[in-house]
Amino acid sequence: MANVIIIGTQWGDEGKGKIVDLLTRYADYVVRFQGGNNAGHTLVVDGKKYIFHLIPSGILYDNKKCMIGNGVVIDPEILLGEMAELDATGLPVTPNRLTISENAHLIMPYHKLLDGASEQSKEDGAKIGTTGRGIGPCYGDKILRTGIKAGDILDEALFREKLRENVEEKNFLLTEKYQAAPIKFDDILREFLGYAEQLAPFIGNVSVELDEARKAGKHILFEGAQGTQLDIDHGTYPFVTSSNTIAGNACTGTGFGPAHIDAVIGILKAYTTRVGSGPFPSELFDETGDALQKKGGEFGATTGRKRRCGWLDTVVARDAVRLNGITGLAITKLDVLSNQGNLKIATSYEADGKRYHAMPGNIRTVERLTPCYEDIAGWQEDISRVRSIEELPVAARDYVKRVEDLTETPASVLSVGPARDETLLLRNPFE
Ligand code: IMP
Repeated sequence: MANVIIIGTQWGDEGKGKIVDLLTRYADYVVRFQGGNNAGHTLVVDGKKYIFHLIPSGILYDNKKCMIGNGVVIDPEILLGEMAELDATGLPVTPNRLTISENAHLIMPYHKLLDGASEQSKEDGAKIGTTGRGIGPCYGDKILRTGIKAGDILDEALFREKLRENVEEKNFLLTEKYQAAPIKFDDILREFLGYAEQLAPFIGNVSVELDEARKAGKHILFEGAQGTQLDIDHGTYPFVTSSNTIAGNACTGTGFGPAHIDAVIGILKAYTTRVGSGPFPSELFDETGDALQKKGGEFGATTGRKRRCGWLDTVVARDAVRLNGITGLAITKLDVLSNQGNLKIATSYEADGKRYHAMPGNIRTVERLTPCYEDIAGWQEDISRVRSIEELPVAARDYVKRVEDLTETPASVLSVGPARDETLLLRNPFE
């Protein structure tokens, strides 16, 4: 029995999807614990392309149970759309395959409108560059205690009451603050009562189910979304997402006790990327940055936006190791670094004559950071066919070793290409 958390160590898009897919093989349960359909990953299985935003990709295996924990925010239209798409490919999502926490909050139509309106109203430098999926406003209502939970739509009287209060408040904001058109109570009520009927068989108590699974000796995989530097508390605030993306939230976001976690795998892309706005100390604005963007196919899975690219930053990686209690790294996209000349790794920062070994909290300081780099030899060879550490060119092995030393964390997985088999599993966290 082992319970493993997978999280992103950087600004998201580290290639978690592939590693989750790899480790799902050893798990019985796969659980999302935060974020919503701002996340997204693409998997190609037997020549068929699947894009997941909410349902764990474990749904592709017929013997795995998938769960959406209380820490996730759910857009029912997107969730039902994903279920319908799976159904159409001959993979029906039945209640014995998926449980949705009754305590997960719902993204309502007004959350999406407010996300867009709030972004539009900001000056260019202040825009967060959100995915526009209503994530921030939905978590905002959760914290303000005015949110609507998945379980609430099963109780029509309760749902009507909560919806009425929200529509009144949101219409004030939409019309008075943002000069936008109002929303209609009846339209949302009708739409959501329809969703309630379809979702009712899936809504349950994720915490109880996970506890039973744990006692029965099952393996549980907790699948994080986004990355550590997008964490609402520990990231580059306010240029972050609205949830805790770090490993601690695997427990609060599902109702699972921390003492039962056995391993935390941190996904670390061999270089750094970021989508949306916000500081990024090791960002490259030259041809090397362009080359990484092109070779790495760095486009956001959810919005299709070009990702900003830069050198690996081990200040960020060390922050992630500390904040998440990472026990092993999965270093992804190592193949993209082949044939890029000599490489650099950021090992600390400087601003205003002061040296930083962790990301400072003050956003103005973060914006002024310049990275201090260490040069490291590159390699020319294509490494996508390498399947053991010994087959790697010496320079690539040295690069991995340097990352392990700088982060004081061993590599558990190396990924050298997008396909399932382009992977070196050095230490299996489930064993
Ligand atoms: P939100 O999560 O849509 O509110 O967006 C807030 C910030 O998080 C923006 O910079 C987004 O680009 C970023 N973000 C949200 N989800 C992801 C993700 O899955 N990968 C990378 N960045 C993300």
